[in-house]
Amino acid sequence: MTATCTSPAAPAATAPERFARVCAILDQHGRDPARLIPILQEVQEEYRFLPREVMAYVATSLGLSPAKVYGVASFYAHFALVPKGRHVIKLCDGTACHVKDSIPILEAIRKRVGLKDGQVTSDDMQFTVETVSCLGACGLAPVVVCDEEVHGGMTPAKGAALVDAIRAKEAAK
Ligand code: FES
Repeated sequence: MTATCTSPAAPAATAPERFARVCAILDQHGRDPARLIPILQEVQEEYRFLPREVMAYVATSLGLSPAKVYGVASFYAHFALVPKGRHVIKLCDGTACHVKDSIPILEAIRKRVGLKDGQVTSDDMQFTVETVSCLGACGLAPVVVCDEEVHGGMTPAKGAALVDAIRAKEAAK
């Protein structure tokens, strides 16, 4: 696999445009509280995370308490409650990937991105680097998923090259 990565497709939207899209998402789901999870998924695609004030609006629109919506959002690892970088790099640290030295890959990626200890998102909001459990692609271990694109047979050098490729692509825009 090549060390390239697709960038998130959605262009930056203004706050009123995003709010209009949230309303459209709610309408598409009939403002049905039973559709809370798919609604939150689509709202997250819009913002790349779930802002607390938007969750409160979703709650009111669905006739649910903000605490209920926040509780659901915080329960599922899929949902992000803080802003993520423009590019999200997920390194699998499940058993198959771990035994094939996933941690040195993580360290190489974090170093190339310039993350400090405890930091998961770069100061320029370009990258978020996180670990995840088994991605179900153990045959490709060690695995990295970058902006939903799967990269198997990763090494520390390939991880660093992946970051370089994203930077080069961004610089060419
Ligand atoms: S352990 Fe990494 S894909 Fe399964």
